[in-house]
Amino acid sequence: MAAFTIVDHEYDVVVVGAGGAGLRATFGMVQQGFKTACITKVFPTRSHTVAAQGGVAASLGNIGEDNWAWHMYDTVKGSDWLGDQDAIEYMCREAVPAIRELEHSGVPFSRTPEGKIYQRPFGGHMRNFGEAPVQRACAAADRTGHAILHTLYQQSLKHKAEFFIEYFSIDLMMDESGCRGVVAIDMATGTIHRFKAHRTVIATGGYGRAYFSCTSAHTCTGDGNAMAARAGLPLQDMEFVQFHPTGVYGAGVLITEGSRGEGGYLTNSAGERFMERYAPTAKDLASRDVVSRSMTMEIREGRGVGPEKDHIFLHLEHLGAEVLHQRLPGITESAKVFAGVDATKQPIPVLPTVHYNMGGIPTNYMGEVIRPEPGNTEAIIPGLMAIGEAACVSVHGANRLGANSLLDLVVFGRAAALRCRDTLKKGETHRPLPKDASDKALSRLDRLRNANGSMTTAQIRKNMQRIMQNDAAVFRTTKTLQDGISKLAQVAGSLKDIKVSDRSLIFNTDLIEALELENLMTCALATIHGAEARHESRGAHAHEDFPNRDDDNWTKHTVAYVDEQWKVKLDYRPVHKYTLTNEVQYIPPKARVY
Ligand code: FUM
Repeated sequence: MAAFTIVDHEYDVVVVGAGGAGLRATFGMVQQGFKTACITKVFPTRSHTVAAQGGVAASLGNIGEDNWAWHMYDTVKGSDWLGDQDAIEYMCREAVPAIRELEHSGVPFSRTPEGKIYQRPFGGHMRNFGEAPVQRACAAADRTGHAILHTLYQQSLKHKAEFFIEYFSIDLMMDESGCRGVVAIDMATGTIHRFKAHRTVIATGGYGRAYFSCTSAHTCTGDGNAMAARAGLPLQDMEFVQFHPTGVYGAGVLITEGSRGEGGYLTNSAGERFMERYAPTAKDLASRDVVSRSMTMEIREGRGVGPEKDHIFLHLEHLGAEVLHQRLPGITESAKVFAGVDATKQPIPVLPTVHYNMGGIPTNYMGEVIRPEPGNTEAIIPGLMAIGEAACVSVHGANRLGANSLLDLVVFGRAAALRCRDTLKKGETHRPLPKDASDKALSRLDRLRNANGSMTTAQIRKNMQRIMQNDAAVFRTTKTLQDGISKLAQVAGSLKDIKVSDRSLIFNTDLIEALELENLMTCALATIHGAEARHESRGAHAHEDFPNRDDDNWTKHTVAYVDEQWKVKLDYRPVHKYTLTNEVQYIPPKARVY
């Protein structure tokens, strides 16, 4: 193995990732006085949270009555009864103080005429247990993620967090006591950095790039999920992949659900507002799984628009230029750039596009990572936490409501810091690392750096993305999933034949993309295997051979273990049907048919 220059660091806490969750955790940790490092492969304000548009949910009741229990009910129902109710209660209750704190930290929210935070309707968010849409999504125009990310970065800097920017985390350092930190490469110099920490917080985001068409940034490659898997830890509920109804046709770029919140609507080739047929109460503001499936049905039944009848129109023209420029300036520009349409005059061509991963590293509602063991399905891994899209708390269950993702980031980023406050002493001494603490990570790096096969990373990645797009799509069948599994096994096998052309250690993006591809493959395998095994339809998992939700047999979380030979082993753990306070508890109505 090549000799790498190794630099060792010691911190109370290391946060991996600088999106909304990572920065909220970093800010919280330094506020508590912990010596905190934040390691990130991109400049913090370029993290994917910057692309979040429509809003962050909280029952502030600024525009009409609202209540955390209604928010909780919507989230449990939206999760199609797979979400953990203790965690959902925590998130919906803590939403209110968490958003107030963001406001006081300086997030430039849009305002009502009285100066309160502006809130807009969003899919699945209803008043009084499903009666009618409520205005719950706190918005900064249609750039809410951008506003939050910048504020959290500024606050983290102000409170003296230490940032390691353009450092790529390769693997966790584990020993018999739990997690001891993380090994990363400084992409600019090729030096290796071993970050010892009493708490390592994974906040690396989702893995949308396992699919061919997604709203996710190219950086969303499931790095933290795969690090956990390589450490022998499970990934939970990975079969639940959310399709956002309105990606720009052909480009996949997001057009916020906030546009329907402001009054936009969808039509088919007959000019019909078809959502009225599928969801008579919520209509275009039904939850995303429902809207994406309805659009797909319209297209399948020959009522799509365009020469190929393969997409749907989103109408915003009737809202008028003033509303569009004031409330939805970002997507008006995206429509122009990516679809060539003037949204003030023409409909936007849209198509359901991969947007979010409900699955991830299982945690409790305090951010601690769980690895079920015989007799204890809630056993935690000391020293390791996960938050944000990389985690599965599980507050989103089988389907996430819009505006609950930014909320998840800030509530659980904050929760991780509160948990450290309660369980960690500042400046505690570090035990020496085991001698081989970084050996596995470095041999992986070295293997890929010297890989001399016949296939490029781009070729293998595209093969994987096509399979996921076609065989683990909005609607799945036993046949597509089984075909997908055998094709994906072959593509995973082809990773042995990968070629990395650049052997240098200075900004070797060829090498970094190969590392990312292995991470994506881990996530893709867990997704398609979990989907094939789940013989029911629930939330984003619409299985045509099993069209009903099966509460008797399938109200359980999938846990998938992916090993380094790309073999997948599945197990299950119970859904928390209990709440934190038992003030409320929700039970599913009769199973719905898809
Ligand atoms: O449509 C949107 O603005 C996306 C929001 C979300 O995914 O929470």
